[in-house]
Amino acid sequence: MATHAAVQEARGQAAGDPSIVVEGLRKSFGKNVAVDGLSFTVHPGEIFGLLGPNGAGKSTTLSIMAGLIRPDSGDVKIGGHSVIRETQRAQRLMGVVPQGLAVYEELTAAQNLDYFAKLRGIEKKRRRQEIEEILELVGLSGVAHRKVAQYSGGMKRRLNVGIGLLGRPRVLLLDEPTVGIDPQSRRHILDSVRRLAESGMAVVYTTHYMEEVEYLCSRLAIIDRGRVIAHGPIDEVRALAGDAVVLRLPFPRGVLDEAAKVESLQNTLPMPVEVTSGELRIVLPQGSRQAPAVIEELQRHGVPLDGMRLESPNLETVFLSLTGKALRDGKAAEEGAMA
Ligand SMILES: Nc1ncnc2c1ncn2[C@@H]1O[C@H](COP(=O)(O)OP(=O)(O)O)[C@@H](O)[C@H]1O
Ligand SMILES: [Mg+2]
Repeated sequence: MATHAAVQEARGQAAGDPSIVVEGLRKSFGKNVAVDGLSFTVHPGEIFGLLGPNGAGKSTTLSIMAGLIRPDSGDVKIGGHSVIRETQRAQRLMGVVPQGLAVYEELTAAQNLDYFAKLRGIEKKRRRQEIEEILELVGLSGVAHRKVAQYSGGMKRRLNVGIGLLGRPRVLLLDEPTVGIDPQSRRHILDSVRRLAESGMAVVYTTHYMEEVEYLCSRLAIIDRGRVIAHGPIDEVRALAGDAVVLRLPFPRGVLDEAAKVESLQNTLPMPVEVTSGELRIVLPQGSRQAPAVIEELQRHGVPLDGMRLESPNLETVFLSLTGKALRDGKAAEEGAMA
């Protein structure tokens, strides 16, 4: 008979005590519900993905987890300690990489790390070794003594991640750590996160790039406007798309430029249609057999069909078919392309 642990493992969940327990989080700002009943657990060595578009509630969730803002209800336990009742004990176990850059431009990377290490109360002897290890991990050893002001955006982001690693935390929270950076720095950050998890860290990784979740995470929650729209092991979440595929057409400029035409397409087709700055995407819930009818409709609207293609289900398809909208805009999609 399968043990409980074996069953958990088969479900993509590690056995043993979770490092992170998030239970029934809710948080509103006035009438705006930013987080609406979010629960998940993360075990040592696991990378949990929190995937959602802008305004989904990712940063609010992470700020609550980091003990920076209080939820209206629910709790977060880090290594068994409540971030509400035992804030400092919980905070000592975790590293946080905020969405905004929190580095001093006038200092070097080494000086930044030294400064934040002192703030964390890391003693001198350990500090030096830890800083060297971190610089190595984030790939900044060669430029450690250069002023951050001279760094590229990607290098600053890597330093931002490095600062979150001070004190060798058991739990790491990352808030969109790769937004708007070059593919090489991005790959570097993703690989560093992977290595940290392999060494036993429990990681929560928020992003609006589904490729990052595909690359890193064993389990995830997809959130939209505070609500969890899908949650579980990545294969199970992907399967929620069912037979759905997405018909993608490069944006037919000059043909669909008029908002009225887009709207009439959205009204005549019985499925979600999304127009991003780069293309038209249409979810076919029953799969490619729906393509001929849709293509006929597009032709009736005078949409050119050059470069049309069908995409097999992925997390983006899940998001599109559950919410009827794209996870990100066209510009972000280009930035998000994996190298
Ligand atoms: N301090 C705040 N005051 C008022 N509204 C806020 C505040 N922080 C976030 N919000 C709102 O809460 C929602 C979720 O925001 P956020 O957590 O930043 O989303 P994400 O990080 O996924 O983009 C948004 O509608 C945002 O405008
Ligand atoms: Mg955010």
